[in-house]
Amino acid sequence: MKGVILAGGLGTRLFPLTKITNKHLLPVYNRPMIYYPIEAMVNAGIRDIMIVTGGRNSGDFLSLLGNGADFGLKHLNYTYQKGEGGIAEALGLAEHWVAGEQVCVILGDNIIEKNVAKAARDFIAQKKGAKIMLKKVDDPQRFGVAELKGDKVVNIVEKPKQPKSDLAVIGIYMYDARVFEIIKTLEPSDRGELEITDVNNWFIRDGSMTYEVIDGWWTDAGTFDSLIKAANLIQQGGANKLG
Ligand code: G1P
Repeated sequence: MKGVILAGGLGTRLFPLTKITNKHLLPVYNRPMIYYPIEAMVNAGIRDIMIVTGGRNSGDFLSLLGNGADFGLKHLNYTYQKGEGGIAEALGLAEHWVAGEQVCVILGDNIIEKNVAKAARDFIAQKKGAKIMLKKVDDPQRFGVAELKGDKVVNIVEKPKQPKSDLAVIGIYMYDARVFEIIKTLEPSDRGELEITDVNNWFIRDGSMTYEVIDGWWTDAGTFDSLIKAANLIQQGGANKLG
């Protein structure tokens, strides 16, 4: 399975910090934010990784990460997203490189305490469809929220005012190669982006979506509050078994 890490966008929720650099280069305790999703990918057993970045600071990713030696990698792949078209648009840019394989996608501002190695193995065995990771949260309104019936996810609503559950869809997704055809059919949402939630609802309707509730803590780091929360969690307990 290939791995795509999404590290583009304008990071407007972190202005003015992101006026002069890319969100994913900001420090989270003792490392740049982008280190954590790369480590999560490697810990999941995925070594063939592409980073989608963008904006004025995209060259800094190359200077910082090079060929991925800090992560035990021999090579890293990069591509460039112009503007802010959303998560699904950014993933679409990796189509040629994924080349028909299964793909694991991690949002560059998502940090997990443990790892998704078992979920990745299960998904490889599942072969077709998609898999999402869920986590119980106190503030589901900030995320995509999953509605479950029995052992199935039946719907996901992006940032619902009245969430049907407290299970956030975290920013780690696994797809078969049909994902790229689905992305081409999407229309921009009210925030002007191609939403990953629309992709996930397609796989739910297809009957090929599975899920796993992850162990350990999870946080995003894309707002002032979640950025400091992430730093505190890492200081207290480490993340992805780094350092
Ligand atoms: C995105 C997704 C959302 C998901 C979240 C996880 O939100 O759209 O479904 O729960 O990432 O971090 P965004 O950060 O783009 O608002």
